[in-house]
Amino acid sequence: MYAFTYHNPVRILFGKGMIAKMAPHIPAGARVLLTYGGGSIKTNGVYEQVSAALKERSVLEFGGIEPNPRYETLMQAVELARREKIDFLLAVGGGSVLDGSKFISAAVPYRHADPWELLSKHAKIKTAIPLAAVLTLPATGSEMNSVAVISRESTRQKLAFGSPLLFPLFSVLDPETTLSLSPRQTANGVVDAYAHVLEQYLTFPNQAALQERQAEAILLTLLQEGPRVMAVPESYEHRANIMWCATQALNGVIGCGVPQDWATHGIGHELTALHGLDHAQTLAVVFPALLRHQRVQKMEKLIQYGARIWGLEESESSVEQAIDKTEAFFRSLGVKTRLHEYGIDDRDFHSIGRILEERDGRIGERKDIGAAEVEAILRLCA
Ligand code: NZQ
Ligand code: ZN
Repeated sequence: MYAFTYHNPVRILFGKGMIAKMAPHIPAGARVLLTYGGGSIKTNGVYEQVSAALKERSVLEFGGIEPNPRYETLMQAVELARREKIDFLLAVGGGSVLDGSKFISAAVPYRHADPWELLSKHAKIKTAIPLAAVLTLPATGSEMNSVAVISRESTRQKLAFGSPLLFPLFSVLDPETTLSLSPRQTANGVVDAYAHVLEQYLTFPNQAALQERQAEAILLTLLQEGPRVMAVPESYEHRANIMWCATQALNGVIGCGVPQDWATHGIGHELTALHGLDHAQTLAVVFPALLRHQRVQKMEKLIQYGARIWGLEESESSVEQAIDKTEAFFRSLGVKTRLHEYGIDDRDFHSIGRILEERDGRIGERKDIGAAEVEAILRLCA
């Protein structure tokens, strides 16, 4: 196991009715900016609950943060927050609203230059406005991590950044807020959480026995609860299990001291930037293909994955079956796994590989995926 430092300061308020309990955790006298997305919170009762919880507080609002949040939109919020001397952000929504709010949090005090540098140059974040979240879509883990992914419309880029200063102060996870999710968003969340575990688990063995078992516990729970939540979307209990899985999948715990891949996410972000696919759709497409392409390098963990997750024989000959079952699981949730099913042909395959290698170098847990390998992986999922 590698050496690691682990610190996660996010207070979690989990369960039905917990929105009403958040106010004491917001600093007294704070000037709050409530950020939200395209309006789902106005139709599912979440906005009313948040307004009631904050009725004694000074609150301004900024709505309209879109899925795959855009720099162009977020800079309008940055201007508003600077003008109004906002000193606390409350993000109410899915991963996009949370990520967008993390960008606002870091960008408001970044006055000496264009805050896009936070992403393009990974400029150091010395200060950020404290933020908290009311999560309405379990998927990204953004509610309990310090990372955000932001898109820039004008350059068709989608880039990630992070800082310990961007951990939410607290996050409210009320599974009831997720009852209004569409089947598509529900399935996307399951796929994203599953993929987050695979990125930290399907690499090579390094004697991290507990982290492996923790990762497997999340995978097995998603395999059990995913189909159940699709079949009975009104079930609080299934929603609750999915919500806690998604948070645990990317709050750093299972990633402690282990090699990590993240190549599927890297390739997936480019597919979203160029073609507008949902984040989870890109993962459902790329992950099976990446596993097929990297099966030799990942062999030991793939065998373990096949045996412990899918009950297959512990041998090399079961590996293809484990990958097929993974792809079939994504499809069973209604998420398509081939690019042509989203109307995407091979015209950008070469340039996606080149963009990634130029920007990030070679990727994957062994740094053995460069431009040519990315192109080959994309051909495998065409
Ligand atoms: O905008 P509104 O109207 O709220 O509607 C949203 C949006 O259209 C809707 N929605 C959210 N909660 C709802 C709801 N609809 C009904 N009922 C509810 N309770 O769902 C749509 C999608 O929302 P979005 O926030 O975009 O989805 P998600 O949570 O999957 O976030 C995706 C973004 O997170 C990034 C992705 O790249 C993508 O930009 N990621 C962030 C990560 C992180 N911070 O650690 C890691 C991930 O790997 C990922 O990259
Ligand atoms: Zn993801």
